Amino acid sequence: MDWGMENRISRIIKPDTNRTVMLAVDHGYFLGPTSGLEDPAKTIEPILPYADSLMLTRGVLRTSVAPKSDIPIVLRVSGGTSIVGKSLANENITVSMEDAIKLNVSAVALSIFVGSDYEKETLTSLSRLVDAGEKYGIPVLAVTAVGKEMARDVRYLGLCCRIAAELGAHIVKTYYCDNFNRIVKNCPVPIVIAGGKKIEEKKALELAYNAVNEGAIGVDMGRNIFQSDCPQGMIKAVREIVHNKLSVKAAFDLYKSEKK
Ligand code: 5RP
Repeated sequence: MDWGMENRISRIIKPDTNRTVMLAVDHGYFLGPTSGLEDPAKTIEPILPYADSLMLTRGVLRTSVAPKSDIPIVLRVSGGTSIVGKSLANENITVSMEDAIKLNVSAVALSIFVGSDYEKETLTSLSRLVDAGEKYGIPVLAVTAVGKEMARDVRYLGLCCRIAAELGAHIVKTYYCDNFNRIVKNCPVPIVIAGGKKIEEKKALELAYNAVNEGAIGVDMGRNIFQSDCPQGMIKAVREIVHNKLSVKAAFDLYKSEKK
């Protein structure tokens, strides 16, 4: 791996713990002004100091994050679908590598839809993105999106993660599931977990705790942070679990004390 690629990856996966807390606010690329992201700048500002990196679209980056910010950026570069369209799986690449480089990102992110009608398109898009990333030393995060008809189980998510790694993704984002450690064992690149739909804060902390304990290098969490009734408390608690191996109970107590 070249120096630049390694340097960018180490901006995301912190060398002192080999872990990461990635704050995901890219949801608007297909959901529009989803709750908690109506005003991205207002949502991001108070929680940004506790994130290791920020996953977002170029539109939100340009309008809602100060250029003087030193937060490493993971740029969402796939899209072309919407919640009211025919299929969320029919994504393409929506940002050129040149523009990503101009935006000084630390990585680019693209979703793959294994098992959907657009499996081949999204997997070959991943390959093209990896080719462009390798040319310029820009790491690629593959997001294993789960089609409606798919079960988020170890077989399916394990298949998606391994395919993403085989095609050259440098980091894979998937979901936590039973026997998650098997996915980690069978995937030769680091894995982060998405939080998924908003659930109770304590359950979301358990998710993060179990995932890192079973080999994930961290989280790429969005809704369970910015839709929480105390986003700052939540990201601080997640951070303590991911980087300082805090217990769920202690992390939940931290969240509750912040909420007060
Ligand atoms: C949305 C995404 C998000 O980046 C990913 O799902 C993480 O966010 P959340 O924790 O809210 O699931 O890919 O399409």
